[in-house]
Amino acid sequence: MTKGKASQIPRHIAIVMDGNGRWARARHRPRSFGHNAGRKAVRAAIESCMREGVHALTLFAFSSENWQRPQDEVGALMSLFVRALDKEVDELHANGVRLRFIGDLSAFDEPLRQRMQLAMSRTAGNDRLHVNIAVNYGGRWDIVQASRLAAEAVLRGELRPDQIDEARLNRWISLAELPPLDLFIRTGGECRISNFLLWQAAYAELYFTDTLWPDFDQACLRRAIEDYARRERRYGRTGEQIAAAP
Ligand code: IPE
Ligand code: IPE
Ligand code: MG
Repeated sequence: MTKGKASQIPRHIAIVMDGNGRWARARHRPRSFGHNAGRKAVRAAIESCMREGVHALTLFAFSSENWQRPQDEVGALMSLFVRALDKEVDELHANGVRLRFIGDLSAFDEPLRQRMQLAMSRTAGNDRLHVNIAVNYGGRWDIVQASRLAAEAVLRGELRPDQIDEARLNRWISLAELPPLDLFIRTGGECRISNFLLWQAAYAELYFTDTLWPDFDQACLRRAIEDYARRERRYGRTGEQIAAAP
């Protein structure tokens, strides 16, 4: 298999940052200790992506299903988000990172929502690395909200139902403005998508590792990228067709 160098670095990586609870349990500490420890891994992933020349990194921080966790854990996660935003945004901005939050943000309280909006607007002019944090996000929710926007466009008379095709609906799906998802990573040993980027992952390469998220360092991400570089992305074609393509 021959591949150009540019195609070996994924342009867009998504990560299900899983395993914080088990990491804490192994140390006889509360689950929130594991979530805190996960912050270092977030920083390492962002730094790696900048160094490798990745264009976008999308991180699953809180799923629409995670509200079902014990109230004290949800509370600890919310205060962790607030602290992380207060502490990290200046440096991310200085490094040319554009921050986006995807998901149903209406569920969060006003101070947190304001912090997220401010971080998004402050960094909106940056283009070195796009970091997207998925909070109260669900892949099904994403498809539903896009469908709703399509229905509203139909009601306004801007669109006929028969004009809704994949490309048109995609415009309303989160992250449509970024390169397509190339590499979908899940740490923590589970081999499932857990309602993350369902639409966007249609042709992503999947990579599962047993490493728990707080232990996922720059060498781990390098291994995932190396694994990705060995894949042959066929998009329905045959290997022979891919080899013959210019
Ligand atoms: C992922 O780690 C972080 C969030 C879901 C917020 P977990 O908290 O799910 O860790 P495990 O899976 O219980 O080890
Ligand atoms: C997925 O992890 C969500 C995040 C990493 C934020 P979970 O630990 O919540 O997933 P399930 O419930 O085990 O599938
Ligand atoms: Mg988990």
